[in-house]
Amino acid sequence: STVVADTGDIDTIRRFTPQDATTNPSLILQAAQQENRRARLAEIACHSTDIDDALDAVAVEIGSEISALVPGYVSTEVSARLSFDTDATLARARSLIERYDRHGIPPERILIKVAATWEGIRAARQLEREGIRTNLTLLFSFTQALACADAGVTLVSPFVGRILDWHKAEWPDGDFSGDNDPGVKSVRRIYEHYKGHGYRTIVMGASFRNMGEIQALAGCDRLTISPALLGELAETQGHLERRLVPIDAETSAPEPQDEAE
Ligand code: E4P
Repeated sequence: STVVADTGDIDTIRRFTPQDATTNPSLILQAAQQENRRARLAEIACHSTDIDDALDAVAVEIGSEISALVPGYVSTEVSARLSFDTDATLARARSLIERYDRHGIPPERILIKVAATWEGIRAARQLEREGIRTNLTLLFSFTQALACADAGVTLVSPFVGRILDWHKAEWPDGDFSGDNDPGVKSVRRIYEHYKGHGYRTIVMGASFRNMGEIQALAGCDRLTISPALLGELAETQGHLERRLVPIDAETSAPEPQDEAE
């Protein structure tokens, strides 16, 4: 698996040198509150026309900084508030790409994160036709994954931890450890189906809660990992590898044969 940092924190990215980085509005907010960039980002936000415009301006400012540090993709999210509005998602995605263009960053470097709702998937299909690459997020089910692959999106982010969180809340006495982790099972099923049917959409496991989940999915195309878990991973390995190999070929997803790049 290619290691991706799930953060807008520049220092984490400098420290772990991941291939790609993924952000979302709450990660951008955290990064924007850091002492050394607060004043500059507040100044940028002040020149915006409304709150959405301000969020996008700050997200692209941070995304541009990150893109100078990682060789691969930077994911920037369209506000989840627009998840059920195809036209609004399209407009916001195009405007994010225009903003990146003004920073001299070409569309090939950016993945626009869009919620994997029906409306979001329709928007993503159109964006991909226009040459804007998409990362379909908030993906919890096999059905969402099938619709995303059929829409020809560049990458999907099936969530692991939020599925586990929900199971734990619903069934407090359940055993969801190891191979019983429903989030891990969900991502494996999606990965195996994509590879078995020749879909070129990249599968990137997201929303990890512990190292066991990461190890269980090593071998999946990409894994996006929080700074805390990147730290644990680096400690386990002595340093952080940009690629993770399956620890057990029997139970882990196989290495991808044909990633869509
Ligand atoms: C990445 O694409 C997601 O934004 C992230 O992994 C979500 O993680 P969380 O479930 O911890 O919020």
